[in-house]
Amino acid sequence: MRRSAILGTGFCVPDRIVTNDDLAGLMDTSDQWIRERTGIEQRHWVREGETSVDLALPAAQRALEAAGLTAKDIDAIVFATSSPDHFCPGNGVYLQRALGAGQLPALDIRTQCSGFVYGLSVADAWIRSGQFERILVVGQEIQSTGMDVSTDGRHVAVIFADGAGAAVLGPVDPSEGRGLLSFDLHSDGDHAEKLWVDAPGSMYHPRISVGQLEAGRQWLQMDGREVFRHAVTRMPESATAALTKAGYTWNDVSLLIPHQANLRISEAVQKSLKLRDDQVYNNIMRYGNTTSATIPIAMDECVRSGRLKRGDLLVLTAFGSGFMWGSAVIRW
Ligand code: COA
Repeated sequence: MRRSAILGTGFCVPDRIVTNDDLAGLMDTSDQWIRERTGIEQRHWVREGETSVDLALPAAQRALEAAGLTAKDIDAIVFATSSPDHFCPGNGVYLQRALGAGQLPALDIRTQCSGFVYGLSVADAWIRSGQFERILVVGQEIQSTGMDVSTDGRHVAVIFADGAGAAVLGPVDPSEGRGLLSFDLHSDGDHAEKLWVDAPGSMYHPRISVGQLEAGRQWLQMDGREVFRHAVTRMPESATAALTKAGYTWNDVSLLIPHQANLRISEAVQKSLKLRDDQVYNNIMRYGNTTSATIPIAMDECVRSGRLKRGDLLVLTAFGSGFMWGSAVIRW
């Protein structure tokens, strides 16, 4: 039975940097409040007119280049986003068109902050089964256009941001040692409305009304305390389950990349797993929470800076809207 491995990674964020002081000019907040509660110092937001392709294409091209491949070598795209350019079609086809790689299958997945981990598991299964050889997995978000940047939305708007990360997966022989080893995936729809966007939605006719717009139902809504409470339990639980499935313990782990939801959440996860600082990577200070893109962005930074090396045991864990959560264990 063959395995899949990550052959190359890449990321792209918009060039517009938004500092905490910039946000303090839009709403009643402060650099100190944002740093203390979230760890975020700055984030990147798109300029008007920028699209998913503007972020996902450079991220994909960098991942392909790192893998020593071109778009023509890819057999399928798995595109994770919770903030598609349009209700339909999904973002995958826009990336397929921009890549110029032929009529590849393109699968959009909507599992929010866990999107990249879910995407890896789909790509891994496709490669293991022999259905496809090389798959581009992308996590990309434009959250900045879906947030209320007035004081009413400040507990959400200071957290979320825009960006894209990508990985190219391909088959490897298990004798090489490396590859994706295990997954642990979950959801709990009892909490669906704790981090969600109500409208537009097909349960409404029309899908969004003037009344809903006036009530702000188009903005991302979050019960921050509930998200925090569940995230700090679910991520350690799931990451440990994936690790156990792969036959390892935390002593074997070189690096944990937690979804960059909030630095306080990552710190609580690290503490509960009793991990050293050198075993956990955080970059939310510079990028904010880019939802499905946080993990591939962090992974690419780790690879390029030498923090993640061939042979390392890597654990990824994510939690977010749904609630949905999951983890992956990878021998790099
Ligand atoms: N700037 C200044 N004050 C703010 C603020 C902001 N950006 N956002 C909220 N506040 C205020 C609130 O209005 C409240 O004021 P009050 O006491 O006068 O009513 C006070 O700060 C505390 O608000 P609360 O929402 O209880 O704060 P909190 O300690 O729970 O922190 C979060 C808010 C959002 C930082 C925190 O709940 C959190 O990090 N949750 C997890 C969010 C997350 O990670 N989401 C992504 C998941 S993928």
